Amino acid sequence: MTDKKIIIAVDGYSSSGKSSMARALASRIGYRYIDSGAMYRAVTLWAMRNGVVASGVVDVDVLVASLDKISVDFQPMPDGRQHTLLNREDVEEEIRRLEVSNNVSQVSVIPAVRHRLVALQQSMGVAKGIVMDGRDIGTTVFPDAEMKVFVTASPETRARRRYEELKAKGVDSSYEDVLANVVSRDHIDETREESPLRKAHDAVVLDNSEMTVEEQDRWLLDLFNKIISGNED
Ligand code: DC
Repeated sequence: MTDKKIIIAVDGYSSSGKSSMARALASRIGYRYIDSGAMYRAVTLWAMRNGVVASGVVDVDVLVASLDKISVDFQPMPDGRQHTLLNREDVEEEIRRLEVSNNVSQVSVIPAVRHRLVALQQSMGVAKGIVMDGRDIGTTVFPDAEMKVFVTASPETRARRRYEELKAKGVDSSYEDVLANVVSRDHIDETREESPLRKAHDAVVLDNSEMTVEEQDRWLLDLFNKIISGNED
């Protein structure tokens, strides 16, 4: 085992399971895990609480003028997870709600929001030894990342997983609403002008529609081991 630390970028569609995979890998190899989507969700929550976004319509000027008032950070928890902090308040639960999901794409298309969060993400990777998941990590945030993975699965598979997840948490939603949200977020994420969701040319694609969690975790760990030992082919 080498001491060399690398940057690992895991990008892909919403609810593709990329966050669980990325988190599991980070914990297995002793790297820091950063959920970049949580940062966009936290800014969205701030905008919702302050009446700056409602029903997917954002007052862009007010939000951009308020960015200096919004701080986003992560707090490591005793169980190894990280909770998202918005102006030092733990908002980990609240940012996962469907209302936030329904507004987050519109907030994350705003270039000034992206510039601010990308700069923050890049500062988190200075020491390497980091696994970050998102949409533009391999293309924009860390274009030189040593390991890049692009995760995909069919919209129905992803909606089904997300629906089960929400149900398990006791969140009231219907499969149809979750599917509609997945499809609409895919569209906005893929077509926005500023760093759209796109596979980096040097990313390895993983379609996990037919894989179990254990299989995908093993696949990711195998890829990491190949890259770190310098024999990727
Ligand atoms: O991964 P997630 O579903 O929690 O991400 C929430 C939203 O944030 C997603 O709809 C798109 C946006 N996002 C982004 O634009 N860029 C990232 N690097 C991560 C997320």
